[in-house]
Amino acid sequence: MCGIVGYIGHREAYPIILKGLKRLEYRGYDSAGIALFDGSDIKLSKTKGKVDDLQNRLEREIPTKGTLGIGHTRWATHGVPNDINSHPHYSNSGNLVIIHNGIIENYESLKKELIKRGYTFKSDTDTEVLVNLIEDVKKNEDIKLGKAVQIALNQVVGAYAIAVFDKNKPNEIVVARLGSPLAIGIGENEFFIASDASPFIEYTKNAIYLEDEEMAVVRLEKGVKIRKIKDDSLVDPYVQELKLNLEQIEKGGYDHFMLKEIYEQPNAILDTFRGRMLPNEGIIKMAGVEDNMKTFLNANRIIVVACGTSWHAGLVSEYIFEDLARIPVEVEYASEFRYRNPVITDKDVVIAISQSGETADTLAAIKLAKSRGAFVFGVCNVVGSSIARETDAGAYTHAGPEIGVASTKAFTTQITVLTLIALRLARAKGTISSSEFRQHMIELELIPEKVKKSLESDDYVKSISEIYKNAGNFLYLGRGYNFPVALEGALKLKEISYIHAEGYPAAEMKHGPIALIDENMPIVVIATKKGHYEKVVSNIQEIKSRKGKIIGIVTEGDQQVKALADHVIEVPETIESLTPLLTTIPLQLLSYHIALMLGKNVDQPRNLAKAVTVE
Ligand code: G6P
Repeated sequence: MCGIVGYIGHREAYPIILKGLKRLEYRGYDSAGIALFDGSDIKLSKTKGKVDDLQNRLEREIPTKGTLGIGHTRWATHGVPNDINSHPHYSNSGNLVIIHNGIIENYESLKKELIKRGYTFKSDTDTEVLVNLIEDVKKNEDIKLGKAVQIALNQVVGAYAIAVFDKNKPNEIVVARLGSPLAIGIGENEFFIASDASPFIEYTKNAIYLEDEEMAVVRLEKGVKIRKIKDDSLVDPYVQELKLNLEQIEKGGYDHFMLKEIYEQPNAILDTFRGRMLPNEGIIKMAGVEDNMKTFLNANRIIVVACGTSWHAGLVSEYIFEDLARIPVEVEYASEFRYRNPVITDKDVVIAISQSGETADTLAAIKLAKSRGAFVFGVCNVVGSSIARETDAGAYTHAGPEIGVASTKAFTTQITVLTLIALRLARAKGTISSSEFRQHMIELELIPEKVKKSLESDDYVKSISEIYKNAGNFLYLGRGYNFPVALEGALKLKEISYIHAEGYPAAEMKHGPIALIDENMPIVVIATKKGHYEKVVSNIQEIKSRKGKIIGIVTEGDQQVKALADHVIEVPETIESLTPLLTTIPLQLLSYHIALMLGKNVDQPRNLAKAVTVE
């Protein structure tokens, strides 16, 4: 999983590629490199570390001139992150240079063959094998680069988005995709290559998204020629007009993307239900649901597949679907589901939840479910992503680009979409009355304002963070709808502050975690008025008698928990099913402030990546 950028045209390629790589660092950031064609030869610089490290090194090492180039920001799969394993990689002759996002699974056998034919390898990567395979095919058959890439890729097993060029043919870049995203930006006799559109959005709004098993020769003066890798058939390029704007993908005055994205939640939630929900008319309209209403209503059960934060949103939806629409729900880690030989029938509806729409395990789970006859519905944020395209129907969250690796607005907008679906199905099934239906919509409409109100706790949360920032462990407890929120709160803290944290159903505390409680243990307890309040208050008493430090997330005006807890953070009142949209907010802020106080890289935590496109 990596970010790739390329440019060919009339401008200097280096600044475009450098800026593009910075925008793609969410895809990986353990090493980076750029190759430029200076008019006669390829100049290449690469390094372990971030794109900033690359910039420092490259500008000392090579001239930054040239109107053709490719760049890469890496998240290591084969070969540790070091200078040599960083991309781009040369072929043995030095004529070809390549960048790659993905994994070539049969690279070892290909490498053995190439070694027999005299090829040598500097790195441990699968990518260096691929560029030499292309070179070998090209040399043996005396063919053009595009053809050689096609023949080589037909020998490859795995996943890839690649960009490669030949210094003897500096008017073209050859690209291909299978399983990893690749977009081509179309300008005025200039072309941009990238893993997503963010690197070229300020230059052009016209883009082609390659489909799996397609390759393209991108040639100056001639344009883009797309073919199917397998059967060589030509594909008509479909040029899309992008709606994304640059402001949406930059920090907008906030110190970090994560903070910006936390604060964007009122609007993101509003954008997600806007146009789909008309409380006055008592209507929820979602094309993907309407068109498949029969399938939903005849379903024996809903199976949710997802990973990470999206899985937590799935857990919240289990409560919503069962509560409102009375449909049985199972929530599965995509990675477990796909390898378990699960029992799936054509009476099952699978809902795949994914912010990026590119998570490899979720994608594989979808393919498995489809192959066994299930109808698969996607809830994705990234428009046109692989999961959005692979599913039978779907509904987008309209959260806008999420760049911070720790997911925030994706979570709350996923819950919003899932709530709309559950409400629509509940109404169609008659499991809620029209007045309950209307009541839910009215409450949902008030949520953006209430999220804004919840954000007002920011300074107070910061002061609590100061007190507990050096704790070695945290416990997060919640019940019912707020149990998944406890899991999500713990995940946020782990991800960015590296403090060990566990989320638990509050009542389960007695079956183990209670042994951990002493005066050094901060315990975040979600104790809103709606939802087993009295039971949670009893759990708080149990913690207090063991001297644990209690941070309560409570409904505005609460007195009972306030009397017991060390600190309480208030959120506005709402109906129980919508409380996760509010209780999540202070937990996001808590993890943000603690991580920042500990000097951690909030937007790019170690070892993580935004889109996990490897299994
Ligand atoms: C990674 C990200 C998480 C995300 C998970 C699932 O682990 O760091 O923030 O929740 O992948 O990603 P998806 O794009 O499928 O929601």
